[in-house]
Amino acid sequence: MDETMIILRLVHIFSGSFWVGTDLLMMLVIVPAVAALGPTGGAFMQGMQKHTRYAQLMPLASLLTILSGLWLYTRVSDGFNRDWMESTAGLTLTIGAIAGLLAFFDGMLLIGPTMKRLDVAQHNLMASNPHPRPELVAEVQRLKARSTFAMQSTTVLSVISLAGMAIARYM
Ligand code: HEM
Repeated sequence: MDETMIILRLVHIFSGSFWVGTDLLMMLVIVPAVAALGPTGGAFMQGMQKHTRYAQLMPLASLLTILSGLWLYTRVSDGFNRDWMESTAGLTLTIGAIAGLLAFFDGMLLIGPTMKRLDVAQHNLMASNPHPRPELVAEVQRLKARSTFAMQSTTVLSVISLAGMAIARYM
């Protein structure tokens, strides 16, 4: 029995499915509902950030997926063995791993900071009611568009990663 592999796989698959599952739920269900609800939707997003652990759980899940993934990769590839990496299975898994790493950096460098700035801008906008300043309205719209783009791109990348992982061994 290989205990290290068992633990690594448990951590990797649980955290990875939480990460991709939450990304898909956000993109396909929550973000469209928030957009349709207008100001109430903005208040819901703020409440979600403030009263749940979403902002901590997503970076944690993606970090665990990446770290366990890198460790698994060094073991499965027998220390980056070239023949394995050039095999169809190795290439498929490598493409999935690269997509997962890009999704991680997208989330860390784009989504997190944009969500924080959006939170502040929305707070300022609400405080300026009933006469919202046009530059604040424009700022909120710009940040909303940026966060939607960042979420869409990280979701696509994490789905590509999951697909690569799921089929690699049968290639
Ligand atoms: C969105 C991100 C990711 C998800 C959802 C994910 C999901 C999965 C799943 C479900 C498996 C099991 C596949 C199977 O047993 O047939 C797996 C295996 C694997 N993953 Fe990932 N993964 C992600 C990112 C990564 C990254 C970034 C790396 C490496 C840098 C990586 C490396 C590996 C390796 C090496 C295996 C094979 C383990 C083995 O054969 O025992 N994964 N992954």
